[in-house]
Amino acid sequence: MSHLTLALLTSGGDAPGMNAALAWLNRLADQRGWRTLGIREGFAGLLRHDAFELHPNDSWRRARHGSTLLGSSRLATFTEDLPEIDAALEALGITSLVVLGGNGSMDAAAHLAGDRRQVIGLPATIDNDVPDSEATLGFDTAVNTGVRMLDGIRDAGEALPHLFALEVLGGNTGFLAHAVAEAGGADLVLVPEMPLAEEVILKQVEGAMAARRYAIIVTAEGYPDVEGVIARASAAVGKHPRFGRIGHAQRGGAPSGRDRKLALEFSLVAIEALATRQSGRLVWRRERAQLLPFADPGSKVVRKAFTATWKLPL
Ligand code: F6P
Repeated sequence: MSHLTLALLTSGGDAPGMNAALAWLNRLADQRGWRTLGIREGFAGLLRHDAFELHPNDSWRRARHGSTLLGSSRLATFTEDLPEIDAALEALGITSLVVLGGNGSMDAAAHLAGDRRQVIGLPATIDNDVPDSEATLGFDTAVNTGVRMLDGIRDAGEALPHLFALEVLGGNTGFLAHAVAEAGGADLVLVPEMPLAEEVILKQVEGAMAARRYAIIVTAEGYPDVEGVIARASAAVGKHPRFGRIGHAQRGGAPSGRDRKLALEFSLVAIEALATRQSGRLVWRRERAQLLPFADPGSKVVRKAFTATWKLPL
């Protein structure tokens, strides 16, 4: 007998692996006899009471695909809309809610946990900027996408040398850029947390060009005046800059094996948390998936410190 109506909602930028998590959550809930509702288009859809019954076989068909079968939104007016969102959850008879999204969505989810319902947050963002968690859903896939682009650039560079720069997504953080640069073998990574003096950039570029005739810089979006920085470094080494942006292509594509596995790990912890009447918790990863109170990420836990090295061995 169903004693619980679980709603699933994806919010903010989509991330590969969201569909896998939705499918696992749906399946695991079904096994416990719970009803699962999908909320269309995040909190904006919830405001419209836009919900539908999710069936495990339907969600499973989408598990291996990127994006989110529920659609998403960024609701700038969340705080003002909170009473209406609360009322929508009541009206739809939702006793449990799992929110999948990044930092902002986790903060939003924290506001909805209370006596009347259980709320669990599941970090899903290519930015990997959830404090102190080793991984968020979608990060690994986005790193792999960036690495494939770097491989292509390296092929071109080996034939015809240039100074190349590739801008990747990552919001206002450099976690994604740094992982792409390291895994893809770039010569330098520029992250907004740690802007570098231009002479330092130039020295590294010159070193790479002396060693291989070409250089590759990975830059995070949000790096100050990045096109100007690249243009000046190119001019200094007598090259025309070859600057490209991955853009939103980095958010798409089938989830990697690692993200699919993470989707299962996170879902198992989320469902167990609901079954044991826990609420106001974030599924988070350190060595293994585990629960952390929502209050911690923004306050007590120190934000994931950016300790990455910007300079990669030449
Ligand atoms: O937070 C995920 C993310 O993809 C960031 O990496 C990027 O800065 C942002 O979303 C882009 O947002 P939008 O889809 O609103 O342009």
